[in-house]
Amino acid sequence: MPKTIAVLRGSPRADSLTKKLARGIELAVGDRLTFKDIEIHDLPLYNPDLEKDAAHPAWDAFRAAVKGCDGLLFVSPEWNRSVPGGLKNAIDIGSRPYGQGVFQKKPAAVVTQSTGGTGGFGCNHHLRQSMVHLDAIVLGQPEMYVGNLSADKFGEDGRVSDSGLKKLIDGFADTFVAWVDKQG
Ligand code: FNR
Repeated sequence: MPKTIAVLRGSPRADSLTKKLARGIELAVGDRLTFKDIEIHDLPLYNPDLEKDAAHPAWDAFRAAVKGCDGLLFVSPEWNRSVPGGLKNAIDIGSRPYGQGVFQKKPAAVVTQSTGGTGGFGCNHHLRQSMVHLDAIVLGQPEMYVGNLSADKFGEDGRVSDSGLKKLIDGFADTFVAWVDKQG
């Protein structure tokens, strides 16, 4: 049975390029892994005070959803040279209670994108920093900074159609699948 990957997307936009890219990666991976899209943009803002009695039910549902997966894939735009707030909020929720974080020991990969040339470099490294701190096992290479992204790089079937991007995504998909498999 294929392993399940929690996909955490950094953009709340309906017509998001991040969503298209995540889908393009999923199609490149095919049936080698099962992608589970985790919705994060309706999660209440994290506040440790609210953990004292009972954690907010939406936080617990999110934690359980991530915990039930075998690995993590972050796909995100960069906002102001860092991680979009909604995704950072989800990471903060998943990191607590202290010592019981849901990301620990899970294989994780980070893909960032931008319509500009820098490919979300700042966001990519802030995500890596948080995930290393939270004891996820972060894939080092290939580094995935997808620059100059546009909707016309995808076909109507959702697959990446641009030849340069397709090569990048296919290579990443093969490495990610093999690497998740290797983590046992
Ligand atoms: C951006 N964008 C952006 N791009 C970038 O390369 N570096 C940046 O620091 C920022 N900052 C930023 C802040 C805010 C608040 C917004 C709304 C946007 C542009 C944005 O990341 C880019 O267009 C993405 O390709 C959009 O991705 P989605 O939303 O289509 O998935």
